[in-house]
Amino acid sequence: MVSRFSRRELAKLAGLSALGMAMPAGAAEKKGKQADLRFTPAPFPRGFVWGTATSSYQIEGAVNEDGRGPSIWDTFSHTADKIADHSNGDRANEHYHRYKEDVQLIKSLGVKAYRFSIAWPRVFPEGSGAPNPKGLDFYNRLIDELLANGIEPYATLYHWDLPQALEDRVGGWRSSDTSKAFGDYSGYVAARISDRVKNIFTLNEAGRFLNFGYGWGIDAPGLKLPTAELNQARHNVVLGHGLAVQAIRASARKGTKVGIAENIAACVPAFATPENIRATELATRELNASLLGVTLEGKYTDGFLEYSGKDAPKFTPEELKIIGSKTDFVGLNIYAPQFYIAASDKKPGWDVLPFPSSFPHMNSEWLRIGPEVIYWTPKIAAKIWNIDTIYISENGTSSEDKLRDNGKVYDLDRISFLRNYLTQLQRATAEGVPIKGYFLWSLMDNFEWIFGYEKRFGVYHVDFQTQARTPKLSAAFYRDVVAKNAIGP
Ligand code: NOJ
Repeated sequence: MVSRFSRRELAKLAGLSALGMAMPAGAAEKKGKQADLRFTPAPFPRGFVWGTATSSYQIEGAVNEDGRGPSIWDTFSHTADKIADHSNGDRANEHYHRYKEDVQLIKSLGVKAYRFSIAWPRVFPEGSGAPNPKGLDFYNRLIDELLANGIEPYATLYHWDLPQALEDRVGGWRSSDTSKAFGDYSGYVAARISDRVKNIFTLNEAGRFLNFGYGWGIDAPGLKLPTAELNQARHNVVLGHGLAVQAIRASARKGTKVGIAENIAACVPAFATPENIRATELATRELNASLLGVTLEGKYTDGFLEYSGKDAPKFTPEELKIIGSKTDFVGLNIYAPQFYIAASDKKPGWDVLPFPSSFPHMNSEWLRIGPEVIYWTPKIAAKIWNIDTIYISENGTSSEDKLRDNGKVYDLDRISFLRNYLTQLQRATAEGVPIKGYFLWSLMDNFEWIFGYEKRFGVYHVDFQTQARTPKLSAAFYRDVVAKNAIGP
């Protein structure tokens, strides 16, 4: 084709497109017909739940107010050189005081669901023992405000802000005393909010907080446990989840739905052949065996126990029963393809392929771009664990997000990311993968853990000096998707 043009003509066309100009006048007519620019957005199922998400320590601030106890993230972020920009969550988005304004931000996206987390140390400053009623009062105010604005609250009970008192007293998740305390706290909260909150997530991203916080010393509480102890901590965490499910069932209103929100080890076939897809199923099961898998199967896989050998966790059959307590849905936090899988002739039948250094990523380096992950991972999870209700409990990206002089943020990379991921998500729902909702991370820029305020994930820009919230272009994009319940090209 290209050879049909002379060098001069090509140079002219290239120049025009560089200037953002359309085809020369008359060119379309010459082709005989105007191009038809109409398109049909691909629909999501009726009743699909559109939402957005945040977490307590990342937005609330007010860390010393109304009797809140310290959490391991207060301690960690106040430890020298742990946070890239030397910041902490002391003030964050001041959401504790600005929650009404923030509910309006949610509302103006048109979403009908909001996933937030409850700070355990606000409710039990010591982790267990005497509750602090003022702590729960805040969440009651928030829940009421959401409902008054037609937004369904989805509460998460643990988004990493473990009461420091438990870390000090029993070693945090190194001890099953923390699992028991988590069960008690969960039952206490569920009894008091389930008249209005119908969906409760137990833990958020166990895979992240265990590996980063207890294995590699990167997140709070900054420990580098040997493998056997880390596996025991994993076991205590899933035990905590199981105890929470049972406590919620025992104390919440009938019909309250409960599930975990996990950053599933997201496996994707290198390319879609039946062999690679089968290999990806096997890999998904094995690579999630110690966390999500055991909560859904009520047992550790033989592969995991064999691989762990003497480092395997110690457990009783009774504990496995608790861990495997039936849940009502599974929340999957899906950002990046973590493992590309190919079939192998050798045991165990699959290979994890290495990433080339040129693999594209978003503004956060870990956030590799692979929209197909949000198609394959829920599809495969639903199949291998027979799940009938999945929520994408988080998906989104950070972006440079410069606030321009005209007051706008043109976060075109976020829009591109979301468009591509939502296109794949729609495809999964159209094929019948039981995904019932999607929570965009995040409502607004916030404290991005070890990156402090340098990484911005919000669809609202936040000026952390003035606390001004400004919608980014992606807020308008998301509002359009939600309003249409469909994704366009
Ligand atoms: C997952 C975590 O749950 C959330 O707290 C975090 O901000 C996002 N990923 C983005 O990294």
